[in-house]
Amino acid sequence: MADGIVNMNEFQVLARQALPKMYYEFYAGGAEDEHTLKKNVQEFQRIILLPRVLVDVSSIALSTNILGYTISAPIMIAPTAMHKLAHPEGELATARAAAACNTIMTLSFSASCSVEEVAASCDAVRFFQLYVYRRRDIAVNLVQRAEKSGYKAIVLTADTPRLGRREADIKNKLIVPQLKNLEGLMSTEVVSDKGSKLEAYANETMDPSLCWRDIAWLKSITNLPILIKGILTREDAIKAMEVGAAGIIVSNHGARQLDYTPATISVLEEVVQAVGRRVPVLLDGGVRRGTDVFKALALGAQAVLVGRPVIYGLAAKGEEGVRKVMQMLKDELELTMALAGCPSVKDISRSHVRTDRDRL
Ligand code: FNR
Repeated sequence: MADGIVNMNEFQVLARQALPKMYYEFYAGGAEDEHTLKKNVQEFQRIILLPRVLVDVSSIALSTNILGYTISAPIMIAPTAMHKLAHPEGELATARAAAACNTIMTLSFSASCSVEEVAASCDAVRFFQLYVYRRRDIAVNLVQRAEKSGYKAIVLTADTPRLGRREADIKNKLIVPQLKNLEGLMSTEVVSDKGSKLEAYANETMDPSLCWRDIAWLKSITNLPILIKGILTREDAIKAMEVGAAGIIVSNHGARQLDYTPATISVLEEVVQAVGRRVPVLLDGGVRRGTDVFKALALGAQAVLVGRPVIYGLAAKGEEGVRKVMQMLKDELELTMALAGCPSVKDISRSHVRTDRDRL
């Protein structure tokens, strides 16, 4: 079905054709001027690869270990909201694709299937992403259910004390239909046929007082390791270490929160240096090619996560589309490694890339 598609960007075109304009723009859009949205992709394109030749690349090893779990390649699935708007099978299709690709899926707090349903649908390693509401009992309930259903880590999204201003959604008067089993953000009381009131609801419910000392509270309600998502500076990376984060995700929320934040790839190295290998550093934002994954690894990420590419695959072709997207990225990474002279992910080093910093 997905024959004839040669790269991830073609899935974006198919997704645009498959989805109502309002949903496509909800998925594709970013905050305000969408400056960071463009930068997330463009800054990858500024990085140049420096291949080594005459290396034995007759076998290429992509497998990677994340928090003790071995996955087939350093490409994971980022948490994104409401997959049922993209495809009727929603997160269940995404989870099955994650299992088929042997990668980690991070289920969004704002998923359109329950943590239990997703757990029952596949044996992929799953992480659970958390937003913290003013009503802390909601977090306690969801975290404990995730833990009981075999999720392996909590990904605390730290960049959303309020929702970023996504102008496409405002213009489109984004309407989210009533979906069953909504876990977090879109509880049924606000999801009516009249419209979602997404922004107002999020701003009423999100706890804007959430701060570093609350990580101790989060630790008190779960035994799972906690990754902090949304780190963009050395200072915050150090704070994350101090509060005992098990990992860091360098992310600007796919450029949907604060516009004019840096592209994630351009701050990765600074964060990696601050962390100094104490915990894994992951990155998301703008990863569209295997060469992008290679560049992130060269600058110190242990793996990347992809958000929109998964949604585009899902919208275009359901589970098969997600599998194809993940497979294409993996195949491209494998070819990049062969052509760059890196037989395994551990061989990818800082000396394989040239960045703007090197040109100073
Ligand atoms: C997101 N993202 C996100 N993050 C999060 O922590 N919880 C969430 O519910 C969502 N929802 C969400 C919906 C949509 C439509 C998008 C595009 C993104 C952010 C996501 O986890 C990730 O940071 C970005 O998607 C990464 O950028 P790319 O891969 O989309 O460029």
